[in-house]
Amino acid sequence: MDTNTKIYIAGHRGMVGSAVWRVLEKKGYTNLVGKTSKELDLKDQVAVVAFLEKEKPAVVIDAAARVGGILANNDFPYQFLMENMQIQNNLIDSSLKAGIEKFIFLGSSCIYPKFAPQPLKEEYLLTDSLEPTNEWYALAKITGVKACQAIRKQFNKDYVSLMPTNLYGHFDNFDLQTSHVLPAMIRKFHEAKENNNSDVVLWGSGTPMREFLFVDDMAEAVVYALENELPEYLYNVGSGKDITIKELAETIQKVTGHQGQIVWDAEKPDGTPRKLMDVSKMKDIGWQYSTELKEGIEQTYAWFLENIENFKEVKM
Ligand SMILES: NC(=O)c1ccc[n+]([C@@H]2O[C@H](COP(=O)([O-])OP(=O)(O)OC[C@H]3O[C@@H](n4cnc5c(N)ncnc54)[C@H](OP(=O)(O)O)[C@@H]3O)[C@@H](O)[C@H]2O)c1
Repeated sequence: MDTNTKIYIAGHRGMVGSAVWRVLEKKGYTNLVGKTSKELDLKDQVAVVAFLEKEKPAVVIDAAARVGGILANNDFPYQFLMENMQIQNNLIDSSLKAGIEKFIFLGSSCIYPKFAPQPLKEEYLLTDSLEPTNEWYALAKITGVKACQAIRKQFNKDYVSLMPTNLYGHFDNFDLQTSHVLPAMIRKFHEAKENNNSDVVLWGSGTPMREFLFVDDMAEAVVYALENELPEYLYNVGSGKDITIKELAETIQKVTGHQGQIVWDAEKPDGTPRKLMDVSKMKDIGWQYSTELKEGIEQTYAWFLENIENFKEVKM
């Protein structure tokens, strides 16, 4: 693809969007467009239509979404369902109407049924019930995947969906109230180290298994989808490898240099025993991850240390 191609990255200040921007810039792309939610509220259909008609990018990458953890999903089910559908519907439909040929939609592994076999294959979509704690968000994402699939089928355009596994990296959320397990552990181990290597208390037994992908690798997968016409409508993106939460904690302990004890609070719930994506479809068409977990955690911890002043205000 010509590096002068005009590419609009919706959600370019988010963790994924900013990584896509960074990687595209590194690869020499010079015609990138981004708008903050203040400048362009993607829930506003009239504004989105006008923006895309005026800018006419050749490609739209949709990394904008209302995201959040179990608590937020539980407290604001309507917003998680409706705002995400509004954001993606406005982007997808306006892109189609503006004659945009290429659209990359980002979803999440939560679109797959709660009890689907592991590792999760793309074909398990809509074969059983969703995990109730995030079904609102998952349903919205499923409608986005299906809208892009319908456009492929009916209009023969290159609208494709990528489903990332758990991501981590630069611009992650380190707020202990709302963060995911990996950034939360980085912060906990760092603060315990600073606090005379006090004990780090972690939830559950440490036995559940999870998969993680460095966000720059995710961005590379997006660039791969940008530069190649992918033959199918839906692809999982991950490392295809999982580790126990205990192994994750020990790796982060090593990287941060914490010398104290890890205490497992077995009274607290463990969550799903295993969540792993089958990434063979992406591998078969020529893309795979490159950053091993320890290296990615080292880069994330370095970023955390450089930006730690910004987290001082964030509630612990
Ligand atoms: N992080 C993960 O582990 C993970 C895993 C799987 C999938 N994903 C997917 O990747 C995508 C991006 O996630 P992320 O982690 O990068 O999220 P994030 O850091 O919270 O970023 C979300 C972005 O969406 C934008 N946005 C939200 N509402 C908007 C609105 N009404 N109008 C305009 N922009 C709006 C925000 O813009 P402003 O900053 O300008 O407000 C923000 O930049 C999501 O679809 C998510 O499902 C993420």
